[in-house]
Amino acid sequence: MAVEVAGDLAAELAEGGLRLDVDGAVATITLDRAERRNAMTFATWRGLARIGAALPGEVRVVVVRGAGPSFSAGIDLSMFQGGGTVGRGGDRAETERSIAEFQEGYTWLRRPEIVSIAAVHGHAIGAGFQLALSCDLRVIADDTKFCMKEPALGLVPDLTGTKPLVDIVGLPRAIEICLTARTVHAEEAARLGLAETVVPADRLDAAVAELTTALLAVNADAAVATKRLLCEAPGNTLEQQIAAERREQVDRLRALFGAGG
Ligand code: CAA
Repeated sequence: MAVEVAGDLAAELAEGGLRLDVDGAVATITLDRAERRNAMTFATWRGLARIGAALPGEVRVVVVRGAGPSFSAGIDLSMFQGGGTVGRGGDRAETERSIAEFQEGYTWLRRPEIVSIAAVHGHAIGAGFQLALSCDLRVIADDTKFCMKEPALGLVPDLTGTKPLVDIVGLPRAIEICLTARTVHAEEAARLGLAETVVPADRLDAAVAELTTALLAVNADAAVATKRLLCEAPGNTLEQQIAAERREQVDRLRALFGAGG
């Protein structure tokens, strides 16, 4: 059943060009500033963090999508212009605190309790590319164009995107993509593992719906435990990982069959 997002939260999100729709176990976040190609402001990143904090416990799948012709054109460039709101980094600690706050808008999408899906079409540039990278899965339209534009603007990607990019494409390719700030088109993105699925643009919503249905068909608690295991795997030795498998499995067996005997 679709739940209406409460007025205050909806208004706060609208300020950041965001819309949230919750329908049972599925939450859909729409970057909703099509006339600016879903360019993001500080309010967008704060709004994303707010959604993470306010997400109902029954939500199992979070879809992030963009309204209009593009997923997102990245940071709103007006924030760099004279009198703009991007700080100069003068007070290092304060600026780092602000960036940490913005990063919170991205990090929660990796939580074990949910599977996040970026439904990407058109341009996904800079902060938009990093938002797609912060999701667990990427379903992309065949018109998708990823670009890590930050180095071309004299900046680094700082919205949690560097680690997933390196994890997915490997260090040499990540260096090449970021330091040339070139565009990665859909077909190459799929080849590099940046997308789980590429579909014709008019099939994007249907493909996301099909994936969502498949994800929801699996036992909810087993899904959480399995995602937790998989997320720990890269940082674990084999010994640590198989010990973690045993621990999680005992919890599953107890939940399924009771701890007695
Ligand atoms: N910020 C503010 N406004 C933007 C914008 C952005 N990032 N991207 C697009 N817009 C605005 C355009 O100015 C234009 O406004 P008007 O209608 O008033 O002229 C409107 O959105 C539509 O844009 P286009 O006509 O350019 O649309 P398009 O579909 O032909 O092209 C685009 C889309 C390729 C994304 C192009 O708009 C573009 O290159 N935008 C800039 C992308 C960019 O450099 N982003 C910064 C990324 S770096 C980053 O994100 C850094 C970080 O986090 C620190």
